[in-house]
Amino acid sequence: MPTKPLKICLASPEFAPLAKTGGLADVSAALSLYLHRAGHDVRVLIPRYRRINEQGLDIQPVKGMASIRMRLGDREIHFGIDRTTLPDSGLPVYLLRCPEFFDRDNIYTQDPDEHLRFVLLSHAALQMCQRMAFAPDIVSCHDWQTSLIPLFLKSVYAWDELFRKTRSTLTIHNIGYQGMFPAWTLGELGLAGAEHHLHQDDLKDGVINFLKTGIMYADLVTTVSPTYAREILGEDYGMGLNGLLRERANSLFGILNGVDYDEWNPATDKLIPANFTPADLSGKARCKERLMVETGLEPRPDRPLIGIVSRLVGQKGFDLVENVVPALLAERDFAITVLGSGERLFEDFFNWLTHRYPGRASFYQGFSNELAHWIEAGADMFLMPSLYEPSGLNQMYSLKYGTVPVVRETGGLADSVDQIIPASATGTGILFRDYNAEGLNWALNRGLDFYANEPLWQAVVQNGMQQDFSWDRQGALYVQLFSELSQTS
Ligand code: ADP
Ligand code: GLC
Repeated sequence: MPTKPLKICLASPEFAPLAKTGGLADVSAALSLYLHRAGHDVRVLIPRYRRINEQGLDIQPVKGMASIRMRLGDREIHFGIDRTTLPDSGLPVYLLRCPEFFDRDNIYTQDPDEHLRFVLLSHAALQMCQRMAFAPDIVSCHDWQTSLIPLFLKSVYAWDELFRKTRSTLTIHNIGYQGMFPAWTLGELGLAGAEHHLHQDDLKDGVINFLKTGIMYADLVTTVSPTYAREILGEDYGMGLNGLLRERANSLFGILNGVDYDEWNPATDKLIPANFTPADLSGKARCKERLMVETGLEPRPDRPLIGIVSRLVGQKGFDLVENVVPALLAERDFAITVLGSGERLFEDFFNWLTHRYPGRASFYQGFSNELAHWIEAGADMFLMPSLYEPSGLNQMYSLKYGTVPVVRETGGLADSVDQIIPASATGTGILFRDYNAEGLNWALNRGLDFYANEPLWQAVVQNGMQQDFSWDRQGALYVQLFSELSQTS
């Protein structure tokens, strides 16, 4: 059913391809594009980080927003808002210009003013609406960095008639990052006098928790898969917020992330060595061969190749990989190629692995979108043994590229991968339930056994390539929620 076009302000700390560390960037961009194409008036705000590659972007100051001053605690902050258009789409993206905060090496920092950088983003989103006289139906907030917006709408900006009908949504992409700061920062944050709005037990403990505040005040909370929405209601996955989330369970929804198939489609992908389709997989074989050569593996087309592309952090299950993969490489004939960066411990492990198994293990330490596409295209299996995974995108990219996911049955992994049943040649991947070495060992052995069964493998590859996780479906679910919410009084 067509819905009335909505006015949406979307504030996010990441936005692909301009500013990306992980899936949040892909999702905030793809969701905005979907909404824009569906005829909604979407205004996106992100910080103008130094890291943004501005080549080819037409960035212009916006009239009335070139130079804004704002008092935050004792400080006076100067910022401006510029506008650009996302190439090929016409989607307006507004950039929060504040060199004092954002002209730094990285998107996220450990600097002592990290809380101020993102409280400014939150204020700027609402001030941008004011200055454009844009009365949003929905302000869509993403992760802790924009989680104070729902509170601001109900406190400091509540006087403004412009926001009388505005509803806020908070999308939790990862509950592992909550934005917790000492309570003495309240003054700096401009929240002195607003203590009664904050979580009282936290204040007693001397803490302010941005994500928790967002969950308290957002009119609607979403997260990025139905399974994760259930998981975070319990102690194991709620990371201390499960009690509060249970109180808000009626306003909590899980919508699985979608895939941007313009970007991730082996039939049209311009980054990979050869294109391929379900009907003709010869290009995939070429991709595998080139990938093996370029990453320094022995070019052995018959040898199963496992790929990993990931932030190298505890969430992603690398302690299990450390426990299982070296011994398995000694036992069975396969190769593994890894792309990622993150915690030193895991980087050291993968460097060690490449020395221990030269020609069968390779590791590229860093960030490379091109290599990420090569691995999706050239690997036979894609490994994601996550401890928790709110949605995960790579397993869905893998399915499209005929690369069979081997994943832990959690969050969005459980919602997007179906267990292979050899007798019926159904399913799309291998899932293991318990987070331990036995589980991962079982799953990888199973993957290698199935790979050796050619007809089964071909069927499973085809099953995966038929899956459809496009934003057409997932975006429509957001529109439905946003529309219903905008009609509540
Ligand atoms: P998360 O957001 O937790 O990192 P997701 O699976 O949702 O996990 O998304 C990760 C995204 O980041 C994918 O698009 C993936 O290809 C990309 N990515 C992660 N690490 C790298 C890397 N080292 N180089 C290139 N892309 C990467
Ligand atoms: C987070 C999660 C990941 C999810 C991404 C985008 O970083 O770890 O599972 O896909 O956000 O929503």
